[in-house]
Amino acid sequence: MFPELVSLCEESARLGGRILQQWRSRFTAREKSPANLVTEADLASQQAIFELIERRIPGCRFLGEEGLFINDRPSSIRWVIDPLDGTSNYVHGFPYYAVSIGVEKEGKLVAGAIYDPTRDEMFTAHRGSGALLNGKRIRVSPTTEVSQAMCMASLPVKADRYDEAVERFLRALDVAQSVQRTGSAALNLCCVASGRVEAFWSTSLKPWDMAAGVLLVEEAGGKVTCVDDSPFVLDEPDILATNGTALHAQTVEMLKRKS
Ligand code: IPD
Ligand code: CA
Ligand code: CA
Repeated sequence: MFPELVSLCEESARLGGRILQQWRSRFTAREKSPANLVTEADLASQQAIFELIERRIPGCRFLGEEGLFINDRPSSIRWVIDPLDGTSNYVHGFPYYAVSIGVEKEGKLVAGAIYDPTRDEMFTAHRGSGALLNGKRIRVSPTTEVSQAMCMASLPVKADRYDEAVERFLRALDVAQSVQRTGSAALNLCCVASGRVEAFWSTSLKPWDMAAGVLLVEEAGGKVTCVDDSPFVLDEPDILATNGTALHAQTVEMLKRKS
């Protein structure tokens, strides 16, 4: 069942990615709330992904960012979809955005794919079988010191200088080797899973930003908790994903408010 789910994740993420690239030169953007953008590309990608999955495995439950909420079905399977993660980047032509599709069975993440159409990078995972990039096994980085680490954070879309998330970012600048804010939580999780960076955190995410990426990090050997090290819950906005070495505890410490 899981291999079948992961290949459908992959096929639908690739389909969504193709649609994003087709819309690149002709979309219009509007604000759902201040600085929170949506385009025809988000909507077309989500619709195509939904139709494909519904055709292949009819009757599943769905949660998709752009108003896709089907929960009144008896299925044990729920698809959690972000048809375009990094919309702001997409709108500005900054090539760092992706399609993210995660699958839960009986409430547990079991399969996922994140597709970066700019680089043609397909990240996939299924529970118990590791994480892959374009079919090749990936692992988290072995770095054990946060002072040697590259970290990434996702801030709220309209964060100002007084935001606790910004204060946390500033604390990290004092300690980590490098801290980036890049605009796609899903791809940031792929960066942790593939060992490109050591840690990623946010306290303002939605399930569709994280579902596939959390499984990727765990299957690549990393660790996922909340930023205070309490257990991660997909329906809560709080996440810290690291390579799972001693660096995890150091990152928790680094992010704590010192008062
Ligand atoms: C956003 C990105 C960003 C994060 C925002 C998300 P969207 O998703 O993941 O990194 O900081 O909180 O909303 O809106 O581009 O799908
Ligand atoms: Ca998103
Ligand atoms: Ca989105």
